Amino acid sequence: MTVIVVGAGVVGCAVAYELSARGAGVRVVDARGTGQGATRASAGMLAPYIEGHSDALLRLGIWSLDQYEGFLARVAADARRPVEYRRTGTLQVARTDRGAEHLRERQRALADLGVVASLLNGDEVRRSEPALADVRAGLRVPQHGYVRVAALIEALVGAAVTHGAVFSDVRVEGITRQGGGAAVETAQGRIAGDAVILAAGSWSGGIPIDGPAPPVRPVRGQLLQLRLPQPPLSHVVWGPNCYLVPWQDGRVLVGATSEDVGFDERVTSEGVATLLDSARRLVPALGGATFEDARAGLRPATADELPIIGRSATMPGVCYATGHYRNGVLLAPITASLVADLVLGGHERPELTLVRPDRFGL
Ligand code: GLY
Repeated sequence: MTVIVVGAGVVGCAVAYELSARGAGVRVVDARGTGQGATRASAGMLAPYIEGHSDALLRLGIWSLDQYEGFLARVAADARRPVEYRRTGTLQVARTDRGAEHLRERQRALADLGVVASLLNGDEVRRSEPALADVRAGLRVPQHGYVRVAALIEALVGAAVTHGAVFSDVRVEGITRQGGGAAVETAQGRIAGDAVILAAGSWSGGIPIDGPAPPVRPVRGQLLQLRLPQPPLSHVVWGPNCYLVPWQDGRVLVGATSEDVGFDERVTSEGVATLLDSARRLVPALGGATFEDARAGLRPATADELPIIGRSATMPGVCYATGHYRNGVLLAPITASLVADLVLGGHERPELTLVRPDRFGL
């Protein structure tokens, strides 16, 4: 079976890997290259119990987190390169009494789900993370962690290529009907396949297709990369105005803005200033860190903040894997397995009911 994946962000790359590892002939097309949409400004946080804002998103996030270790082990082995991935736990901190009360409520809600999260007072937070400025309370969720996203993309691409996938930096001009399958019209000609996976993130709605466009809207996120000689933190820290992801080499990612600015991918002085300010308030030692980079990416948001995964009702051969908003990296493994089961095995897994394209008339 030949499958064309439109879009080479983390979702497109994960889908391409899974399909090619299961024996499909895969072609990935994206004029921007690999990992260049929302993915390039992702901090790689794996934190469904913080970012799962609805029951459906939480369930998807938990399922995907459960698969992460095994998925990554396969990818790293196939690509023959390691990917930094750690379940450090998150420490969500509050500076105010109201914030501390919110953390208590979160702990109770997690307990109802059977998730053990520890509530720490200010002193306990300080003992656990001495680099943090004074806070009132902290909620530690040990299951959470992070993955280094650029390394993940390199590994996904490398692993997919070992299974025969081909990546091309060509502009996609449309998706058309082709017998029982579908075809992708590109600046360099038509590529026909048995199936086309539309995984173009924020750009998914702009690709001409015979049917309604997926309603995905860009939400800009800016992210900073700082560096200290040693990691200042042992957890991923989720603060009131920013989050901090400490890598093993002393780099710290600071994220993220959330801005409704259309397709504007610029890094702005205000975005950088706001994030720097928030980061230094949380960890004063970051004031002395080397400023290495600032990046911006466009998160693909849908109206219900859930991704769109599944077959198109209007275009035979087309399957959506888009709209992952703030959770593309977290949801990449489950998306890849859902799409591969569907496209290669015709297996409609029950999880797909949460993310059906037809809720948007697609
Ligand atoms: N998942 C983190 C963010 O979107 O900023």
